[in-house]
Amino acid sequence: MKILLVNGSPNQHGCTYTALSEAAKTISENGIETEFFWIGKKAIPGCIACYKCAEKKRCVFDDIVNEFTEKAQNADGFIFGSPVYYAGMNGSMMSFMDRVFFSASRKEPHPFMLKPAAAVVSARRAGTTAALDSMNKYFLHGQMLVVGSRYWNMVHGNTPEEVKQDEEGMQVMRVLGRNMAWVLKLKEAGEKMNIPLPKQEDIRIATNFIR
Ligand SMILES: Cc1cc2nc3c(=O)[nH]c(=O)nc-3n(C[C@H](O)[C@H](O)[C@H](O)COP(=O)(O)O)c2cc1C
Repeated sequence: MKILLVNGSPNQHGCTYTALSEAAKTISENGIETEFFWIGKKAIPGCIACYKCAEKKRCVFDDIVNEFTEKAQNADGFIFGSPVYYAGMNGSMMSFMDRVFFSASRKEPHPFMLKPAAAVVSARRAGTTAALDSMNKYFLHGQMLVVGSRYWNMVHGNTPEEVKQDEEGMQVMRVLGRNMAWVLKLKEAGEKMNIPLPKQEDIRIATNFIR
């Protein structure tokens, strides 16, 4: 079993990475494989609402988004990390998540459905809960199992060294890693007991509030 740790920061080994690494430690200690996925520094275009993913089953922009959704098919759980920019996730991460989750919802099998997920954020000072709120919305919309910790999943610092001094934040990451590993083991046990995934309804009702 494998958990993908997505680093949405332009800093490959910065604060967000430091938080993700602390969670990765306890995931590994519990016998689950981890893999980092860095979204990089290159510009990631936002969704252009062409809806072509409905027919192509992938995004028309063949970039890191398609690379990730392919990889996600074979992962069992996810932690998405982002630095806080103006009290939200950073812009590249938002473009990335919009396109990943919109195009993934057209894929068969769905790469995220009923898999555990968590968001973690890093900030110098403020805006963490607003950023977490928006990130968690992708998971809830995608029928994922949102995993928590003993506080909201945030660390504080402007440098990795500062983040390591945030003892509470580091503990929150370690607890999150253990909780993620535990949920994966529960899922595995359920599969061994032949507990099927819940039945999906074939037709999705979308009423747009007016009809
Ligand atoms: C454009 C920009 C906007 C930022 N906005 C915030 C903010 O709203 N609140 C905050 O506490 N820190 C803010 N920061 C600081 C980063 O969130 C913080 O340094 C973070 O830990 C960096 O993570 P990283 O090393 O993974 O990139 C901002 C930084 C940048 C570059």
